[in-house]
Amino acid sequence: MYAIDYRDRGTPPSTSSTLVTVDIDGRSVTVPAGTSIMRAASLVDLDVPKLCATDSLEHFGSCRLCLVEVEGRRGYPASCTTPVADGMKVRTTSDKLMQLRRGMIELYVSDHPLDCVSCPSNGHCELQDMADQHGVTDTRYGLDGANHQHAEVDASNPYFRFDPSLCIVCSRCVRACDEVQGTFALTIQGRGFGSLVSASQNESFLASECVSCGQCVEACPTAALVEKSVIETGPAESAAITTCAYCGVGCSFKAEMRGEDVVRMVPNRDGHANHGHACVKGRFAFGYATHSERVLSPMVRDAITDPWRETSWEEAIGFAATRFRALQEKYGRDSIGGITSSRCTNEETFLVMKLVRAAFGTNNVDTCARVCHSPTGYGLKSTLGESAGTQAFDSVMKSDAIIVVGANPTEGHPVFASRMKQRLREGAKLIVIDPRTIALVRTPHIEADVHLQLRPGTNVAVVNALAHVVVTEGLAKDDYIAERCEVDSYRTWATFIADPKNSPEATEAITGVPASLVRKAARIFAEAGNGSIYYGLGVTEHSQGSTMVMGIANLAMATGNLGREGVGVNPLRGQNNVQGACDMGSFPHEFSGYRHVSDDAVRGVFESHWGVPLQSEPGLRIPNMFDAALEGSFMGLYVQGEDIAQSDPNTSHVVAALSAMECIVVQDLFLNETSKYAHVFLPGSSFLEKDGTFTNAERRISRVRKVMEPKAGLADWEVTVKLANALGYPMDYAHPSEIMDEIAALTPTFTGVTFDKIDRLGSIQWPCNAEAPEGTPTMHVGTFVRGKGKFLLTEYLPTTERTSSRFPLILTTGRILSQYNVGAQTRRTANVVWHSEDVLEIHPSDAEARGINSGDWVGVTSRVGGTLLHAVVTDRVQPGVVYTTFHFPESGANVVTTENSDWATNCPEYKVTAVQAVLVPKPEEWRKHHPMVLQVHDSALSGQGVGV
Ligand code: SF4
Ligand code: SF4
Ligand code: SF4
Ligand code: FES
Repeated sequence: MYAIDYRDRGTPPSTSSTLVTVDIDGRSVTVPAGTSIMRAASLVDLDVPKLCATDSLEHFGSCRLCLVEVEGRRGYPASCTTPVADGMKVRTTSDKLMQLRRGMIELYVSDHPLDCVSCPSNGHCELQDMADQHGVTDTRYGLDGANHQHAEVDASNPYFRFDPSLCIVCSRCVRACDEVQGTFALTIQGRGFGSLVSASQNESFLASECVSCGQCVEACPTAALVEKSVIETGPAESAAITTCAYCGVGCSFKAEMRGEDVVRMVPNRDGHANHGHACVKGRFAFGYATHSERVLSPMVRDAITDPWRETSWEEAIGFAATRFRALQEKYGRDSIGGITSSRCTNEETFLVMKLVRAAFGTNNVDTCARVCHSPTGYGLKSTLGESAGTQAFDSVMKSDAIIVVGANPTEGHPVFASRMKQRLREGAKLIVIDPRTIALVRTPHIEADVHLQLRPGTNVAVVNALAHVVVTEGLAKDDYIAERCEVDSYRTWATFIADPKNSPEATEAITGVPASLVRKAARIFAEAGNGSIYYGLGVTEHSQGSTMVMGIANLAMATGNLGREGVGVNPLRGQNNVQGACDMGSFPHEFSGYRHVSDDAVRGVFESHWGVPLQSEPGLRIPNMFDAALEGSFMGLYVQGEDIAQSDPNTSHVVAALSAMECIVVQDLFLNETSKYAHVFLPGSSFLEKDGTFTNAERRISRVRKVMEPKAGLADWEVTVKLANALGYPMDYAHPSEIMDEIAALTPTFTGVTFDKIDRLGSIQWPCNAEAPEGTPTMHVGTFVRGKGKFLLTEYLPTTERTSSRFPLILTTGRILSQYNVGAQTRRTANVVWHSEDVLEIHPSDAEARGINSGDWVGVTSRVGGTLLHAVVTDRVQPGVVYTTFHFPESGANVVTTENSDWATNCPEYKVTAVQAVLVPKPEEWRKHHPMVLQVHDSALSGQGVGV
């Protein structure tokens, strides 16, 4: 296993460019000015004793254990709070220092149980270490005086407990929650001996604002805050560095193992995406991997009304291969296809892509990015030349003004949100463009400078109005544009955007955003030194999703905000490997590296490598597959790690299409909505059970490392290999590193990528090739990938999805922190304590008009379907807008969403659905009168039961 040991240097590094040289215990060390004595000492392998200091937090200076002697100074300064000075001479050990430290440790120990052997942190406790180092085994003060040893334990959080009797009031937890997480949920209540850590105002952790990120647990030097999994499983025996399988932040973790059990997931302080931070999903919600509902045996059935029959891998794969070939014989080569998964590794995704193109012989391959970020690929490729975000996450720390548009980072990308909040607390300006009042608009110590609370579906009008102000008020960066962009395209665009119809005043009636706020936002962004834009699915999942991405790129180019740190256009990717799934050629028209299948030279390289002729025409996109199924020409589908029956819009249409197909092969961890229509079920493997790589939203390729054997015997990539071989197309790989070698050989942006190099560097941001052997943190430096940046016209066209007297409200959708996507993983963890069902947010005025109160059942209907949700009455949404999440199949948010989609990519318009919401006193009655697709899911497709 690849494991690491992290050396905590006590205080964060200084960023000063001035160097000073000091002498510590006779060792000379040169460090940036502002470095603490403690950190400088650590850099020459001298670890000064400490308890309240840790290098993820600013110094605090409370424990007085780190005292040192400084030549020419009186007293014993704390080395964590004292910066080095040029020529300084420091002693970290002496009899006097030992005596002082021993006295401090004795005081701590006097109010601390001395049963280290039975403590869950035995061997990992810094107080224990300090006591051992200083020979303190007992206390002269005895344990009879006042103490906290019977204080009540708070076990309310499902993942960790707080035991005040073990607390040394070092405040590391409080500072971790403030400085790193930015939630400010903890305080130290009381003074002196009576001081105690408290969540909010003496609430339990669960009842407080705590979002269960675990950073306080991470920071705690004792077992006062400790993971319940550590108490239950015992100490770790081994560890490996791997990558979170949830969101596109791609946090790095140390998976600590005891045999085949995960003891805990520790965020990797050397992780380039997360720097030791994590959220409740990656850190704690790993229990799904060993959940009893995992399907561990392949299953087949002749018809979807039959019960499943467990069988061997050989029979299941042979069954699938025979059926697929028979379908091709009967309906033609292009009657089958595959869907790759953004939850699987790059190597697995690449193999499914190869299976479809080379073994099936068609280009009918698509991916779930179709329904999320396909407009990002299209919009950024057309304007900048590359289908990816431009920055590393760390870049935000150099931003002066930040636009967050159509994204809710504190819920969807929490670790990045915490980093962004650090920068905002340092004073960067914030512009939020969102129909809802997301948490970033007002959160502890942060208030958005401007919130443009637009009507759903009017993004393009808003971005045009912002650009209008930039151009007409002379705020465009003319020199940058002249040097970096196609000047003709700029002139044409500037004329278009300067048209009064795009002014904030003219668009106000469309967007609902006061013109003065748009002007204020445009000036803030254009006049800041570094302006960055972060966006999410609230940009892409619209009928003008691609237009909006182009509008964002236009705005960034016009204000000179591309090609250096602190700026950029940054799509926040939803799933852990959605960037990778796109990079690996999962779209029907592109090979890996975004090269069109009609390019003879590119196709020729793949043909000679794979030894088969390949098709030059793009294949079917997911929605076209559904349409073709209903027409009777697309009859077989291999779906790896996707639940299209739940995640794709207009469920009744999807279900009808799936029901029409004659062979659906689902590969997943659990039976899901799609598997109700499947004929073969192949057990999937979790990220803990395989090797490979994920690519996060920063284009960062990180290793996934196997820490346990695949529960069903095969990793996902091995299953695809077997299926290809059963189809008569030979595949032979001994390890996923060989698949990456093939990806590198065939993909210009990956030519320098190997597993060995990732192991050496920790992670790599593509492009990684001869020009950038160690990767590319910032794109478009000096020149755009396409040469000159291209401005494209972005005419605002209203969506055809309009409100009417029948459907007077707009439904929009989003995510919540504790749940992930369709919820298949997080619903099977204790995360349900925070969110056990999807609810409908409705504004008080709309609720009142309908007699709806929080907690009531509400029937939500659109022109395609309907569903029932509990109401939450809140002014987070504006009048006329309702909002829900989509994490639970039974709430069926996509039963309601329509098949409207982006003009360029078919990405569904999830964010705008005209609906009606009514109070439903009797849910069962209401259901009877609303023949919804939900009932298709619920109904007696008896085959979902497992026949054994
Ligand atoms: S778990 Fe995170 S949010 Fe909760 S108190 Fe600890 S640091 Fe704060
Ligand atoms: S709970 Fe842990 S980190 Fe917090 S004050 Fe107590 S000992 Fe320090
Ligand atoms: S922020 Fe995303 S990648 Fe990081 S731990 Fe949370 S879910 Fe995982
Ligand atoms: S480590 Fe310096 S005062 Fe606690």
